[in-house]
Amino acid sequence: MNYKNIIVEELDNGVGIITLNRPEAYNAINNALLAEVSNAIKDFDANPDIAAVVLTGGEKVFAAGADIKELAELDFASAYQNEFIKKEWYALEHHIKPIIAAISGYALGGGCEMALLCDIAICDKSAKFGQPEVKIGTMPGAGGTQRLTKAIGKSKAMHLCLTGDIIDAEEAASFKLVSQIVDHDVKSEAIKIAQKIAKMSKPVVRLIKESINNAYESNLQAGLAAERQSFYTTLALEDRIEGMEAFIQKRPPNFKN
Ligand code: CAA
Repeated sequence: MNYKNIIVEELDNGVGIITLNRPEAYNAINNALLAEVSNAIKDFDANPDIAAVVLTGGEKVFAAGADIKELAELDFASAYQNEFIKKEWYALEHHIKPIIAAISGYALGGGCEMALLCDIAICDKSAKFGQPEVKIGTMPGAGGTQRLTKAIGKSKAMHLCLTGDIIDAEEAASFKLVSQIVDHDVKSEAIKIAQKIAKMSKPVVRLIKESINNAYESNLQAGLAAERQSFYTTLALEDRIEGMEAFIQKRPPNFKN
């Protein structure tokens, strides 16, 4: 695919990078940009050389939400019948390899929802988060009322979605919307995290990611049962034998995936 709205890079050490690149529209998420992100994610998921992905934007903006100029043309009947959002966001919702969001500047509306769909989100001090859809007479449609509520709790999610207020990096970290605020280049920090993950056993990483998503998406008993099953599964992996032997022999593990 010839990308016009994103930049895709593949580093030597198993890390893929997707950079949202529509600076003239503050990386507003239009259908074209979303299709490119979906395509890049699917390609990385299918690429055996890639172990983890970094999703980032520009220095001033991660993404300022769905493209309001495109949304303005949308009507109920066509959105409903064409399953607007459901199709377009599918790859992001079902990605396989860990994605780390590296956020500078605005992550608003669909931009905040995109960050919430990543497995890890980190930001720098310039980051600003919010769901301002209410101010333009609509509401979050790509998981904002659902994932945000799970991430930051009902009261704060209500506050953000009902007022459209924007919070800064410190507040986002205090509400666990991001795992870390960095005071240097957020993209290079995300790459470091991705590189650490890339050194681990790929099947074990996948089992852990699925298990944590179970905690996020199912009830406790179902999540515990699924976690136990995944743990048993790791016992069948050569990488597990290698990992434990390496620890006992005081050497780094040599995972074969
Ligand atoms: N859609 C389309 N264009 C956008 C945009 C968006 N979401 N956000 C910014 N832009 C464009 C502006 O139109 C402007 O373009 P022009 O120079 O051609 O006029 C350019 O980006 C810069 O924007 P501003 O001049 O407004 O920049 P600012 O620094 O004064 O303000 C901002 C920045 C606070 C992010 C402001 O642009 C803003 O409030 N943007 C809209 C945020 C928003 O409402 N997001 C929710 C969208 S709806 C959604 O996401 C639904 C969903 O869940 C699926």
